[in-house]
Amino acid sequence: MKFDLLKTVDQGGCSAKLSATELDKALAGLAKIDNENLLVDIETHDDAGVYKIRDDYALVLTTDFFPPVCSDAYYFGQIAAANALSDVYAMGGQVLTALNLVMFPANLPMSILKDILRGGHDKVAESGGVIVGGHTIADDTPKYGLAVTGWVHPDKVVTNAGAKPGDVLILTKPIGTGVTISAKKVGLAEDETYNKALEIMKSLNNRAAEIMTKYAVKCATDITGFGLLGHAVKMAKGSGVSFRVNARNVPAIDKVLDLIELGCIPGSAFRNLEFVENDCHYEKSVGYNHKMLLLDAQTSGGLLICSPPEQAENILSALKNSPHPESAIIGEVIEKNEKSVYVY
Ligand code: CO
Ligand code: CO
Repeated sequence: MKFDLLKTVDQGGCSAKLSATELDKALAGLAKIDNENLLVDIETHDDAGVYKIRDDYALVLTTDFFPPVCSDAYYFGQIAAANALSDVYAMGGQVLTALNLVMFPANLPMSILKDILRGGHDKVAESGGVIVGGHTIADDTPKYGLAVTGWVHPDKVVTNAGAKPGDVLILTKPIGTGVTISAKKVGLAEDETYNKALEIMKSLNNRAAEIMTKYAVKCATDITGFGLLGHAVKMAKGSGVSFRVNARNVPAIDKVLDLIELGCIPGSAFRNLEFVENDCHYEKSVGYNHKMLLLDAQTSGGLLICSPPEQAENILSALKNSPHPESAIIGEVIEKNEKSVYVY
């Protein structure tokens, strides 16, 4: 019998993040660092920091790591790496180097760790980057991820702050991975559903990033632990606009609404519900299950792209011919209104 990594953990993947509400308390009041080369810092809740080296060259710096999000060690390595690399892509950058971050129980076979690392190395190689080293700590629950360095032209940084009224919202991957993993843990997810979630989480956002930079997109983020609506709220606030999201057009893993109906709602979705409480308005037509799906914490989710209206069809058709054929237009950007996000 193969070792099941999911048995080591209550909440895996990005569901294990601290709540955004609590995190804000810890960060409040920390001395602000002013540096003219720091183009994107922690202030705007962006995906990565951006530090200018020259007028035509800036570094994109980010890290992500988490406990197991699936049973298989090699897949876990791939998913954790794809998720960590994703923040470079969300900024419109390209990957240069990565460092392994490893926490692993001293009493588990090292062959499991080897498979995790092999998954990470394969994904970094696929990204065109190189792993240059890492660090390990003995810990009760395994955790894996990367510290990543990428680069971007300082004039081409894609942030949370560039959305304009009239922009079209495009999502590049189906949601529902958090629900699927919690269903898998209690034996309710069918193989087809679980395998679909693995495919989504393993796939890099590099091609989607290439497409958005080709069409001069200024605003995007990747959907991870705060769920579609949590990240949408952060982006709308960061840009000083509001979003309208059509719940029915949001692509989702098949059968995931059935799993929510069966009660497979991870705790992280409730934390996200609380986080967006004052910033989201839901039309009555949006049922409870659908609402919780939009709040489901994603691991290695897709990019949420704010496309200039005249480029939306080009971007969508390029995405549909990429590894992300399920990409869809899910809403639009409007002038700043009372709430940040209106779901209908
Ligand atoms: Co991110
Ligand atoms: Co991140």
